[in-house]
Amino acid sequence: MSFRELKPSVYYVGVVDWDRRLFDELIPLPDGTSYNAYLIKGKDKTALIDTVDPTKERELLANLRKLGVEKIDYVISNHAEQDHSGAIPTVLKAYPEAKVVTNPRCREMLMDLLLIPGDKFITVDEGDTLSLGDKTLEFIIAPWVHWPETMLTYLIEDKILFPCDFFGSHLATSDLYAVDEARVYEAAKRYYAEIMMPFRMMIQRHLEKLRFFEIEMIASSHGPLYNRPKFILDAYRDWVSDAVKNEVVIAYVSMHGSTRKMVDHLVDALIEKGVTVKPFNLTRTDIGELAISLVDAATIVIASPTVLTGPHPSALYATYLANALRPKLRFAALIGSYGWGSRMLEQIKGMLTGLKVELLEPVIVKGYPKEVDLKSLDTLANEILAKHKSLGIVER
Ligand code: FEO
Repeated sequence: MSFRELKPSVYYVGVVDWDRRLFDELIPLPDGTSYNAYLIKGKDKTALIDTVDPTKERELLANLRKLGVEKIDYVISNHAEQDHSGAIPTVLKAYPEAKVVTNPRCREMLMDLLLIPGDKFITVDEGDTLSLGDKTLEFIIAPWVHWPETMLTYLIEDKILFPCDFFGSHLATSDLYAVDEARVYEAAKRYYAEIMMPFRMMIQRHLEKLRFFEIEMIASSHGPLYNRPKFILDAYRDWVSDAVKNEVVIAYVSMHGSTRKMVDHLVDALIEKGVTVKPFNLTRTDIGELAISLVDAATIVIASPTVLTGPHPSALYATYLANALRPKLRFAALIGSYGWGSRMLEQIKGMLTGLKVELLEPVIVKGYPKEVDLKSLDTLANEILAKHKSLGIVER
């Protein structure tokens, strides 16, 4: 792909990564991704906003060449993570007069991570502006979206916000803009769940600050751009709000069918009570799907057999992730089975330190679940419904 014009003298020069299927060796990318970089040709100065993953730096340089860029004065670095900063050293080689413009914390990280010399930087702070002649960049310090050094860049004259990862989506598409909003919504929600959710409270504050900016376009650094920014701003306001939904996520694994029987029973009991249930078989599920479901859910149920006295490793992994992502869950429960002894409850409890959840009565069964055990699951379903009602989130 080549460059694309967003507004006169403002160009997309990023690269779509159609094939990438894993990020950080952790996060599934079912739809690929893109590394969006932008070039602004001012009357006097030219600025490049962010770069690309180093695996795609040749394509970035080719886009700049096709655009006829002979000189870059400023490389704006909104975020030090290498999928946006990793090509900065190559860009500095190709355009040796360029200075890297960023905040002091990001400068330090770029020096550490990419060994960029300290004298290559111009540092900026909250509200500082940088004139390109007829175009002006304003910098908004916005830590923890999703690293501590992150900032946003606002192009005043064109009312474009360049927020790097913030509002992004891992979605490879030939659409420059989010025209298929349903598809982009899912991809952006997955991105929020996996990357941004642990910083929900910080994001609430950043969203408030952005109310003071007139924004006609949001040009993030992954996925399609938003020329109807209300769409993604509204979605984020919903995701980061304190409100939870009448939803239960069941993260389960079963070895010989006992835990599976319990899950099936609980699913049916909850459905009968009008509670939305999202069961995830941890041996098959894309962990991103589990993360998405945690954005809104009021309750999580971990369901596991006992392996060597503790939970199955897949259940441990899911619990670890759920705790680390810090969703706004309000209740949690453990159900499962054992053959001769179990210390699952202590271990799972000890892993939920990042969540502000009330633990509901567990149902842990010896062997295959019997009638009395299924009744205990009915009681758990009733308790979940009652708890959800107490939050005022049950419609009927
Ligand atoms: Fe897209 Fe935090 O890097």
